[in-house]
Amino acid sequence: MAIRFEDIKEHIGSRVVWDDRADIFSPEAARAIRAQVEARTVVVFPELHLTDAEQLAITEAMGERVRLTARNNVQNNDQDVYQVTLDEKINPQPEYVLGTFFWHMDGITVDMPPPFATLLSCRIAPAIGGETEFASTYAAYEGLPEEEKRALDGLKAVHSVRASLSPIADAIPEKHRERVLGIGLVKEHPLVWTHESGRKSLVIGTTADHIVGMDVPAGRAMLIRLQEWAAQPAFSLRHKWTKGDFVIWDNTGAMHRAIPYDKSTGRMMHRTSIAGTEAVAA
Ligand code: OGA
Ligand code: MN
Repeated sequence: MAIRFEDIKEHIGSRVVWDDRADIFSPEAARAIRAQVEARTVVVFPELHLTDAEQLAITEAMGERVRLTARNNVQNNDQDVYQVTLDEKINPQPEYVLGTFFWHMDGITVDMPPPFATLLSCRIAPAIGGETEFASTYAAYEGLPEEEKRALDGLKAVHSVRASLSPIADAIPEKHRERVLGIGLVKEHPLVWTHESGRKSLVIGTTADHIVGMDVPAGRAMLIRLQEWAAQPAFSLRHKWTKGDFVIWDNTGAMHRAIPYDKSTGRMMHRTSIAGTEAVAA
C-alpha cells in the first residue's frame, strides 16, 4: 500500500507513514486520508514540509477549499492560506488567534455549514507552548451514560464570537472591542449533531453561550461540563509540533485549542479549510 496509518490513541488520532512522498498527492491517497479523518478525527503527517501549493492541492483533492477567516491584507501568501501567528507585522489583529487558546470548533458562527476539516502546517515550531489539543466530540457523545444522552436530546445552544472571545474581551483594546466581539453571526445549533452517516457528536466549545430555554447559569454549567467531559484524556490528543508537521482534523467531530504561546516564539502555522457538506442537524 502506498500510504499506511498507525493509531496514536485508542479513540483518536492516526499517524501517516509513507515510503515515497509523492504517494501522498495521489487521488487514491486523498480518498484514503479523508476516510481516515472521518474515522479517527485527527491525522498527523510528521515532518512532511508542504509548500502552500502542495497544501492547497491536498485540500482540494479532499473536498472543496473554503476561506474561513477574512484575510489580512498584510498577509503575503496565497489568499486561501491563512497565516496563524501572533506576529503583528503579519497579523495586526491578534484577537482571533488569542481566541484559539480556548476549546472551539471552526466556522460555527458563519453563514455556511461548519467546515468538514481544518488543515495546519507548522512553519515555525515554538520552543515553549503552542501545542494543539484535539477532543473528539463523537467519542465524547458515545461515551456518555444513556440517561445523559437522553437529557441532551432536543436541546439547542446559542453560539457567537462574543461568547468565544469572552475570556479575552478585557484584553482587547477598548476602541475596537465592540467591533471585534460583534464579528460573525449569532447562531442556534442542536447540542447533539446527528450526521448524515447516523453518527452523533456534540456541538460545543467556547462559542456556545447558553442553552435555549434553560436558565443561563444552569445552561452554561452544562456546556462547561460537556467541554470537560470531551477533553478527558481518553477522548483527546495533544500534538507537539515539529517544523514541517502537517495535521488534518475533522472539525465536525472535534473541538481544538492551542496551548498558549508567546509571540516571541515566532510560532507560525499555515491553515486551509475544507468546506462542510452538511449543516448541523438534530
Ligand atoms: C485556528 C486554530 C490552532 C493552533 O487557526 O483556527 O484553532 O494550534 N489554530 O494554532
Ligand atoms: Mn480553530
